[in-house]
Amino acid sequence: MHNLKTTSLHVRDNQLWILDQQALPQQQNWLPAHTVDQLAGHIHALRVRGAPLIGLSASLLLALLAENGQPRAQLGQALEILRASRPTAVNLMNNLDRMKLALAADNVVDALSVEALRLVEEDKILCEKIAIAGSALVKPDSRLLTHCNTGGLATAGVGTAIGVIRRAFEQGNVANVWVDETRPLLQGGRLTAWELGELGIPYQLICDSMAASLMAKTQVDAVWVGADRIAANGDVANKIGTYSLAVLANYHGIPFYVAAPQTTLDTHCPNGEAIPIEQRAASEVTGVAGSFGAVQWAPENAAVYNPAFDVTPAELISGWVLDSGVVTPEQVRDGVFKRR
Ligand code: MRU
Repeated sequence: MHNLKTTSLHVRDNQLWILDQQALPQQQNWLPAHTVDQLAGHIHALRVRGAPLIGLSASLLLALLAENGQPRAQLGQALEILRASRPTAVNLMNNLDRMKLALAADNVVDALSVEALRLVEEDKILCEKIAIAGSALVKPDSRLLTHCNTGGLATAGVGTAIGVIRRAFEQGNVANVWVDETRPLLQGGRLTAWELGELGIPYQLICDSMAASLMAKTQVDAVWVGADRIAANGDVANKIGTYSLAVLANYHGIPFYVAAPQTTLDTHCPNGEAIPIEQRAASEVTGVAGSFGAVQWAPENAAVYNPAFDVTPAELISGWVLDSGVVTPEQVRDGVFKRR
């Protein structure tokens, strides 16, 4: 496979490297993801994270393992291990379904390589299209609020919600971005703040609990988030804390938009209740860890509840901004996702 580089993936000399998203922004460390165990470990630890990126990294590794001589049967096992590395973001399963078809081809090495590279190139285009469709909804002088990280780090392209914000900023329509820090793993505080800073987009970092009072003070014009899975009835799983924002936005009469590529749609999943929600380690809530070390503030053995995602019901969403354009609540109620 030819060498390629995105913001957080690097293929060099037939090996995959990933930018460690747990060490950012203090350190920019590229780590080897040369084996299934290495990549599955990175995905589980969120060193590789964001719905589109998880699927792309797994697809690229499979293609590279094939190029490096792994037999078909072992590749099949590798695919299933990667598929199980995180349960909620359906992009991983959707991408691997396509890789599985390629795995059945006569020339498996070429077929896997072509498919993985196609997925990467497609993702860039999907992001671009989302940015075009979404930025048309951003009014002049907007103060936007976003949650988690949905930028170039999480995709092969400009990102989803951040891609929209970036394009709207280039069009002169973004006055400020409120960045939710996104407890417990701080994707907003660490990654979105860093990406917006690099892009020169004005932002202010806030604790998640500050969104309500900002909305009450009419300081938020719209909320933009990404998605890990969109069910057939329009319910959306995204980073924990998204649902609270949707409720708040609804109460304050503020538009709440979800930006995602078609690879995030799960038409087989009837509604949010059927979306598997990943439960994570207690240590993520009892303290914090990063390139600076680890701190625990809760008592030893504190009982913890730590779901990585929540589900926002379709009725709280003002628009689903996909690569195919903006899907309205009326279209969703009419069953547009069920027919895809
Ligand atoms: O646990 P994470 O950091 O992988 O969760 C990421 C999110 O929830 C994002 O909003 C989503 O994957 C969309 S990324 C374009």
